[in-house]
Amino acid sequence: PRGGRVFSGIQPTGVPHLGNYLGALENWVTVQNQYPSVLYSIVDLHSITQPQDPEQLRSNILDMAASLLACGIDPERAILFQQSQVSEHTELSWILGCLTSMPRLRHLPQWKMKSKLKNEGSVGLYMYPILQAADILLYKSTLVPVGEDQVQHLELAQDLARIFNNRYGDLFPEPRALLSSTRKVKSLRDPSAKMSKSDTRAMATIAITDSPDDIALKIRRAITDFTSEVTFDPEMRLGVSNLVTIHAAMAMISVEEAVSQSRGLDTGAYKKLVTEAVVQRLTPIREEIERLRSDPVHLEGVLARGTLRARELAAPVLREVRQRVGF
Ligand code: ADP
Ligand code: NA
Repeated sequence: PRGGRVFSGIQPTGVPHLGNYLGALENWVTVQNQYPSVLYSIVDLHSITQPQDPEQLRSNILDMAASLLACGIDPERAILFQQSQVSEHTELSWILGCLTSMPRLRHLPQWKMKSKLKNEGSVGLYMYPILQAADILLYKSTLVPVGEDQVQHLELAQDLARIFNNRYGDLFPEPRALLSSTRKVKSLRDPSAKMSKSDTRAMATIAITDSPDDIALKIRRAITDFTSEVTFDPEMRLGVSNLVTIHAAMAMISVEEAVSQSRGLDTGAYKKLVTEAVVQRLTPIREEIERLRSDPVHLEGVLARGTLRARELAAPVLREVRQRVGF
């Protein structure tokens, strides 16, 4: 086992899609099994920075909890908890906010993207990266599994650790990114874009709870090109290459092996092979999510135990912070 403390969060966006699974959650399971101290948070405070519906949020939190467990997060190994239940996150984020200048936030990607879409964003959306920094620093985390799109936000957490330490004396270690060999899954309807929950086109995304029939249909309709042979060429043949990526990842084989299995198959026949790999991998996950989702009290209990363990770690750190600040 390696040293260090790992923290990562995911918004309760409901059931994850294949991109979330292969780009983040699968790696979370690996990390959980490699490091002795790991926290995974369902970051519901982050999700109210956008317009939201309370009933939907409650249901999304349980969907995400069930999905994480079904994907292999083990609450005995990793502390799995709901961010809003550990109020220390909000308090630390206020204190860190008081150490952050406005221009420092204005250029961060989250604000630039999401505030433009609405022409204006909430103060909460503006402070989103500060809350992320608080999530990380509250546990004196040293390692943060992130995608490349989050690196700038992690830099803010590093800056804030430094700024706090300079102002109030050494307390926070500087967190580092734990970059995994990132696999980008593309939209099935537009392979030039990433698969994303915000892609609302029909059949663009595969949810990890999709039925075998839905998976088959979506992959059958996936955009490819007019060359029938399967090759891996993510620059020129985005659609086919996306299928190869998915196939290789789901069958846990290399891209070369996936391409060699396609020999003699046209893209139509290859899509059946891809479908099989996806269905085989997702079926036990889907069944486990259904089972867990039918017992919300159990799920709430898992999260409540995670909350207690997270608080045990957070409380002494925040006590120290408060004292240094002069409260
Ligand atoms: P979405 O793009 O659907 O809104 P999020 O931004 O909530 O997804 O991302 C949650 C996690 O899933 C992040 O770690 C992100 O890097 C990863 N992720 C999201 N979409 C993809 C994708 N298409 N391929 C690989 N990883 C992805
Ligand atoms: Na997103």
